[in-house]
Amino acid sequence: MKMAVIYHSVTGNTKNMGEHIAAGMQSVEGVEARCFSIDDVDIDYVRDCKCVVLGSPIYAAHITGQMMNFMLNTAGKLNLAGKLAGAYTTAQYVHGGGELGIREMLDHLMVMGALIYSGGASLGKPVIHLGPVGIDNTLDIDQFIPNFEIYGKRMAQKAVELFS
Ligand SMILES: Cc1cc2nc3c(=O)[nH]c(=O)nc-3n(C[C@H](O)[C@H](O)[C@H](O)COP(=O)(O)O)c2cc1C
Repeated sequence: MKMAVIYHSVTGNTKNMGEHIAAGMQSVEGVEARCFSIDDVDIDYVRDCKCVVLGSPIYAAHITGQMMNFMLNTAGKLNLAGKLAGAYTTAQYVHGGGELGIREMLDHLMVMGALIYSGGASLGKPVIHLGPVGIDNTLDIDQFIPNFEIYGKRMAQKAVELFS
């Protein structure tokens, strides 16, 4: 089953965390997961995916303009309706807007007809409420890697459960 992580990243944090989500997805038997920058998406591959996760850095407590433009201009070509979908962010501060950015992407994915999921509290600790957030500079972002891998695994397990 194909799955994709699509990110915007300038200094590498969001790309790096997206790759850990894909690694978590790939830990589920039968899953092929690939990562794409918003500038280089394999649209045919993503159309075939059952699970898609979007990732953005936080700029001024929002997702980046580039991710918003991607969602408005390109996401419509990805046949997101009916796919399992989620979102993650990276930010500098715990209070910097990470979850606000996740909500912006989840809202857009819902408008596209995607099925929003994170697992939330239903899967125990770590409770990943809306999606994972990685904090750089004020914290060591690598300490968040396990959350991203677990999140990817949970998303993939649910997609396999729903679509196999
Ligand atoms: C223009 C700009 C605005 C930013 N605004 C915020 C912010 O509001 N809150 C925050 O926590 N971090 C903010 N950051 C930090 C980035 O979100 C953070 O470094 C992120 O991990 C960068 O992702 P990337 O390495 O994938 O580009 C900002 C960074 C830039 C360049």
